[in-house]
Amino acid sequence: MRIVVDTGRCSGHARCNATADDLFPLDDLGYVAVTDPEVPAGQEKRARDAVAACPERALSLVDE
Ligand code: F3S
Repeated sequence: MRIVVDTGRCSGHARCNATADDLFPLDDLGYVAVTDPEVPAGQEKRARDAVAACPERALSLVDE
């Protein structure tokens, strides 16, 4: 499973980070800045919850 970010939609709500800060780090301006898009085994639910928490729908997940 891999995280896909639509950076044009991110408005810095940081709800993804509040849900799973290790998977969805923020940059200095508070926008999501995913450095490793691979979701570790066992972290899929946290990733899904964080994606669902974004009100801008800036995040999605793809299965590989
Ligand atoms: Fe951006 Fe959505 Fe997270 S607006 S900081 S991707 S909750």
